[in-house]
Amino acid sequence: MNRATLEVRPDEPIGTISPRLYGWFAEHLGRSCYGGLWVGRDCQDIPHTGGFRNDILEALRALPVPMIRWPGGCYADHYHWQDGIGPSAERPRRLGMSCDLQVEDDNGLGTHEFMHLCSMLGAEPYLAGNVGTGSPQELCDWLEYCNRRQRTTLTERRISNGASEPFDVRLWGVGNETWGCGGNYDPVIYAHEYRRYATMLRHVDRKAELVMVGHDADWNTRVLETLADHPYLVDHLAIHPYFFRGGAELGFSVDDYYALLAEACEIEDYISRTAAIIDSVFDGRRHIGIAVDEWGVWHPEVRDFGPGASQGRRPVTYEQASTMRDALTSALVLAAFHRQCNRVSLANQAHIANMLQAPVMTDGSRMWCTPNYHVMRLHTPHIGATALPIQPVSGDSLPDGRPAVSATASGSAKGMAITVVNAHFDRPAQVLVNGVNDHRTASAEIVAAESAEAMNTVDDPNHVQAKMLEVHQDGMDRWYVELPPHSVATLVFA
Ligand code: AHR
Repeated sequence: MNRATLEVRPDEPIGTISPRLYGWFAEHLGRSCYGGLWVGRDCQDIPHTGGFRNDILEALRALPVPMIRWPGGCYADHYHWQDGIGPSAERPRRLGMSCDLQVEDDNGLGTHEFMHLCSMLGAEPYLAGNVGTGSPQELCDWLEYCNRRQRTTLTERRISNGASEPFDVRLWGVGNETWGCGGNYDPVIYAHEYRRYATMLRHVDRKAELVMVGHDADWNTRVLETLADHPYLVDHLAIHPYFFRGGAELGFSVDDYYALLAEACEIEDYISRTAAIIDSVFDGRRHIGIAVDEWGVWHPEVRDFGPGASQGRRPVTYEQASTMRDALTSALVLAAFHRQCNRVSLANQAHIANMLQAPVMTDGSRMWCTPNYHVMRLHTPHIGATALPIQPVSGDSLPDGRPAVSATASGSAKGMAITVVNAHFDRPAQVLVNGVNDHRTASAEIVAAESAEAMNTVDDPNHVQAKMLEVHQDGMDRWYVELPPHSVATLVFA
């Protein structure tokens, strides 16, 4: 048994954990939207509300889901928003294109439907604009259609399509991965394009927050330096960290297990390096947030690039096994976001349904939640709370030297919440928490399983789920819990 001690410092608040750090990514790709979230208004055999599956809505409401980025991804750079408004029967059928998948796209899920989804879930909409095949005019028109109150031909169309009030969308992406699928731009040329788009978008709605495409250090330095005289045009710089180095989705080795967790933890350095570039280029003249637009585990079976991809399943569906190990990476990443909550301005896990690190999966009329769903839900008390420093002060280490037990803490009017990860592959831990002695009551929930590759399936949907965990006192007014290996628990102190 690893005897670990954590120390929380409630008097040194880090910052607010914005609900925007708990966003999701919904792309018209594979079965994420069409055939996942969206079954269409005419669907007879799956209960739905306005075309969105009721079982998914119910699960997502309990998560919660404060923000959704839509409609892509790579898809966004082919998407023409006017295809997705007006009577469904009159919408054009297009070739839906993203990430080497080409599908028939009837545009049934368009702007109004997406806004309906957001309002049903209480989520903030984040729209990704088309720079690949679009134009500044097209994106300005979408912004005007969504946000302006003045009576114009575009806003009259919005009203006649059923929305008398503006949607008031704050977040607008100016392209997606323009260094790759979004046009293979040279960074300086993209920065010039961005400057043109952003200037014109600002004319339409000054309150729109604009997200510029970021990437690695070289790209970020060059796009930002090109905009050095126009810092006010950038609100957020996007990065897309995916985790590739965990070997197979199932049947992975102990080394693979630790490699994936270590890669997830590297996100913190990536954020710091990106922040340092922003600061060095703009020298404090503007606070630009880091938008972790897409993030998550992406196993080799469902990609045709990166480590191990040659062993992959074909055709690529982006649908992968989602195990306890994958869910642990989420807890480690969220802890990093909390520590960096003054720099990370938003984040969306990929994807919202069926693909990559989805919280919910479907098979015909059946739906189940992944271990990731349960781990993400355990983090609910942190949303909107104040991040607090918490440090391991004793206990075992992992092979890469990181502590086996780590945590994130937050405080709010309701009390303090601490999410603890025991990342050890096979060693349980007794975890003592210093710094919460003032609190009288404690409760906890845990997500754990007999194996790091445990998962839920259509036939065994509740194999991994959250359970109550006992919180003990040690006789000296200190609280402790016992955690099995590869588990995540949230302790709430009131
Ligand atoms: O999530 C799938 C794809 O991954 C997205 O379309 C793209 O932005 C990223 O490369």
